[in-house]
This record gives sequence, C-alpha cells and structure tokens, in this order.
Amino acid sequence: MKVDVLLGLQWGDEGKGKVVDVLTPRYDAVARFQGGPNAGHTLEFEGKKYVLRSIPSGVFQKDTVNIIGNGVVLDPVLFEEEARSLEASGVPLKQILKISKKAHLILPTHRKLDAANEAAKGSAKIGTTGKGIGPTYTDKISRNGLRVGDLFDNFGRKYQAAKERHIAMIQRLGGDTEIAELEEKWLNACEYLKEYDLIDSEYYVNGMLKEGKKILCEGAQGTMLDVDFGSYPFVTSSNTVTAGACTGLGLAPNKIGDVYGIFKAYCTRVGSGPFPTELFDETGQKIRAIGHEYGAVTGRERRCGWIDLVALKYSIMINGVTRLIMMKSDVLDGFETVKACVAYEFDGKTTDHFPFDANDLPLKPVYKDLKGWNTDLSKATSPADFPKEFNDYIDFLEKELETPIYILSVGPDRTQTIVRKPL
Ligand code: GDP
Ligand code: IMO
Ligand code: MG
Repeated sequence: MKVDVLLGLQWGDEGKGKVVDVLTPRYDAVARFQGGPNAGHTLEFEGKKYVLRSIPSGVFQKDTVNIIGNGVVLDPVLFEEEARSLEASGVPLKQILKISKKAHLILPTHRKLDAANEAAKGSAKIGTTGKGIGPTYTDKISRNGLRVGDLFDNFGRKYQAAKERHIAMIQRLGGDTEIAELEEKWLNACEYLKEYDLIDSEYYVNGMLKEGKKILCEGAQGTMLDVDFGSYPFVTSSNTVTAGACTGLGLAPNKIGDVYGIFKAYCTRVGSGPFPTELFDETGQKIRAIGHEYGAVTGRERRCGWIDLVALKYSIMINGVTRLIMMKSDVLDGFETVKACVAYEFDGKTTDHFPFDANDLPLKPVYKDLKGWNTDLSKATSPADFPKEFNDYIDFLEKELETPIYILSVGPDRTQTIVRKPL
C-alpha cells in the first residue's frame, strides 16, 4: 500500500483543508508532515467554519486516525487552544490524534526571535506569520532543537539552556525578551500535550501501510514557499513539496502513490516576495473582495493576481503531481475575460521557466485571454452544470499543464465540491 499526498502548488491558502476533509472518508489516516501553526486550513460544513493550524484536517470525519509527523513544528500553547476548541465541538481528539515524539517544539523565545529577525531585516522582511517557524527549524537543523519526546527526560534543564541561548540572541538583535506570561502558559500547555498519544510515528505509518491501510498526507503552505524550490528567501522554512512527506513522516520515496496538486483558479500570496502576475488595479481588488482573500491566521490582506501557469508547471514537475484540483472557480464567475499567464518576458526575452532571480527581474507576464463564463458556479452540483466557457477553461488548463483536473471546488462548503473524474 502507498500513501497519497495532497499539497499546495502556489503560495499557500489554495484550499487544502477543505479538500482533505472531503477526501478523508476514503482514508484510514490523515497525516501532517511539515509546517506548524503558520498554516491556517479552513473547513466549512453544516453552517459552521473551523480553522485548523497544527491539527490535520481529517479530525471531523469519523473513524480516521490523525497524525502529526516528525517534520511538523508544534507550539504547545497554540496546540492546546486548537485542541480544546475541537474537544468542545465534540471531536474526541485524544482518541484519534497521534503525535510524533520527533516533532520539534516551538518555544516562547522562538516567537520572540521570529519578531526580532523580521525587525532586523527592515524593509527586506519576509512577512512571516510571527509564529516562530523559522527559528524553530533553524534550531532543528543546527541540532539545538527540543522535541516532543524530550518532555519526558530532563526537560526543565534542556528548556532553560535553550531559553538562555535564545535570550542572548534576541538581546543582540535588540528585540523584546519579555516572556514571563507566555512561558507559564507554555509550560502548562506542555503538560496538556503529554496527555496525548506521543509515538514513534515512522513505525506507526509504515505499520499501517503493511496492514493495507490508506493514508493521506496533508501539506501545509505551498510549493512556491518551499525552502529549496520556492521564491527564496521569501519562503517558509520547511520542504512543502512531496519529498517533504518522505522526510516528515519517515516514508520511503517508493511509498508515494497519487499526488494531488491543488491550486486556485487565480493566484494569491501573503507576505513579501516575487509574484509575477500580481494585480495592483481594480481587478485585483475585485478578486480579493469576492474571494475573501484575507489570511486565515493573521487576517492580513492577500495579494491577488491571475493564474500563473509558469509557476504551476514548475510546481507540478517538482511534486510529480498526478491529479489536479482547482479551487475557487466561483470567484471568477462575474469576469468578462479570464487571463492565464503562459510565459514571462524580461529584457526582450521570453521564458516559460520560473527564474532563479525572480525577485530582481522585471518579469512581465504574457497572458492568454479566455472568455469568462458569466454563470453562478456555486450552485453547480455536477460537471453537467458547467457552461461551455468554463469547460473550455478547464480543457485549456489540462492541455497546458499536461495533468488531468479531477476535482473542482465551487464554494467554501464541503458540499460545493465536484468530482469530475472517478477517484
Ligand atoms: P488552505 O490553507 O490551503 O487550507 O486554505 P485557506 O483555508 O487558508 O484558504 C482558503 C479559503 O477559501 C478559505 O476561506 C475557504 O473557506 C475558502 N474556499 C475554499 N474553497 C473555496 C471555493 O471553491 N470557493 C470559495 N469561494 N471559497 C473557497
Ligand atoms: P497554509 O498552510 C500562506 C508565508 C508567510 C510568509 C512566509 C514565511 O495556510 O497555506 P513563516 O511564518 O512560515 O516563516 O512565513 O510564508 N506563509 C503562508 N502563506 N499560507 C500559509 O499556510 C503560509 N504559511 C506561511 O506569509 O510570507
Ligand atoms: Mg491557509
């Protein structure tokens, strides 16, 4: 048995949470493999809306195990908030959630370091979510991190040493070192975390596969935010691509089955960094207003633009995507013309590759114009309801991207999901 992976092909917020929830009944387990509470995955059903940050999006469907893998970074305070609110809504979280002992802990001082690093960068700041993601992964790679399993062994001493090291760093950056209030909450939250099933998740997931069980791996962020392949340095600090599921869960590469690549019918980005198709005009504002493009975690305005097929093709290549999912098609319902970027122009040259120095080049998108569909797609329940112009748009994308589109989402609710090809 192999795992399937679902991940974002753009700059995050493609709608991963919604589709993971829809696909969960087909799986025995859902596993997160990277990122942390920088993620905000929104699910809507039965008139309610939930935003998940560290907890996998499979928790609302019955009889599914949810796993937080070793590649994830976990903030006990934010985890406790999220977990208690799920428990209050009736989710039996302690019974269905398993957490890797090897997942790294986000300390209160990591959050302070994140803020101090950003302040030190001034106008070159990344625009992070401020959750301490970068500093926590930095400690992991420099072999200074604290892991969930450390909670049981001399934890007080290890925590003090890490804290002191961080405070010296924050002071050098001239940042704020006041953590007393947060620290107390954090230490209590560590005790709460110990009430969960903390496991060797690499043995657990491989054991499930041996028994013929099905696992869906849920990506966070998006390919263009990957630390190796994204628009560096304006990226997050983890591998958001398919390979991240291998290192973030202990899965061998030959255990990867289908890769679901998810993208919006347009494009958004939050934080700094290159975004070749960004629109600074009324069209961009219209997409933001109709698509409610404001961050699920920070509430920040998302930058909006037309779909970028250069970046999408690159993402499909890096991830080995076998099945595409297009989200938020309904947001473009009222546009006379829909544009798709098929190449970039700069210095009199044209390229269909995402350039190494995208941040410094004056990239001008080359657009193909497609006729809008002027139909309320949010009411569609099957592909038979799609107007001709929308089918033409889908055909055009499939041809360009050389990958079939299996699922279309036409609204935020669980039910507004149309499976176009048998899964
Ligand atoms: P994620 O981080 O990839 O899970 O995505 P987010 O939850 O951050 O952002 C996606 C937003 O779009 C959420 O507010 C969803 O409720 C909403 N959404 C998802 N699919 C659709 C859709 O097909 N149409 C519309 N209009 N909204 C959608
Ligand atoms: P989901 O899983 C969109 C962006 C931040 C910033 C950069 C680095 O909901 O799609 P970080 O806090 O990770 O160090 O910030 O990455 N970013 C996201 N943008 N969706 C996300 O997650 C993101 N997680 C991080 O805005 O530009
Ligand atoms: Mg999000």
